[in-house]
Amino acid sequence: MKQLIAICCFLVVLFSCQNKVEEPVEPTEEKEAFVYDMYEPSEMANLMNQMYADNLKIKQDILAGKTPTEFPMDFMKIHTAEMTDLKGRNEVFESFSNVFLNAEREIFNEDSEVPVEERFNNAVNVCISCHQTECTGPIPRIKKLLIK
Ligand code: HEC
Repeated sequence: MKQLIAICCFLVVLFSCQNKVEEPVEPTEEKEAFVYDMYEPSEMANLMNQMYADNLKIKQDILAGKTPTEFPMDFMKIHTAEMTDLKGRNEVFESFSNVFLNAEREIFNEDSEVPVEERFNNAVNVCISCHQTECTGPIPRIKKLLIK
């Protein structure tokens, strides 16, 4: 059993590393065409920017002592929004999406005994965790959302 788990871990590492190692050696021509396309932000990129703005607003409300009351239903689009990188929507992405939506929903759970600042930071930390797996660029920006 232990061996099986070890093999699985190895495969996961192998897979994620392969993706990363491959990137720089892609033929430049194709890469350029791809970058050109990205001037039009994907549906997912737009959703992400909206999630950023919404969470900034939630943070400001919390700091002002207001209780956030309405879970932004648009966040559910994370399951369907079209992405720049078509390989992106895999099992890891789906499970991070679910963990994220649950954490974000917790912010609006009025019965929770956990302080709202902590619930908010939990959700932001899931943003960061998912980004660590595939899209590290926006992480410094996302970290600014955390309530200190
Ligand atoms: C399930 C994984 C996942 C979660 C959770 C997640 N992101 Fe993202 N994020 C991505 C991916 C993948 C992209 C690239 C999207 C694309 O280019 O199509 C992205 C892109 C972004 C971008 C850049 C958008 C642009 O203009 O290119 C920002 C900003 C961002 N995310 C912020 C956030 C914030 C804030 C949260 C939490 C509220 C969050 N993300 C949660 C995966 C995730």
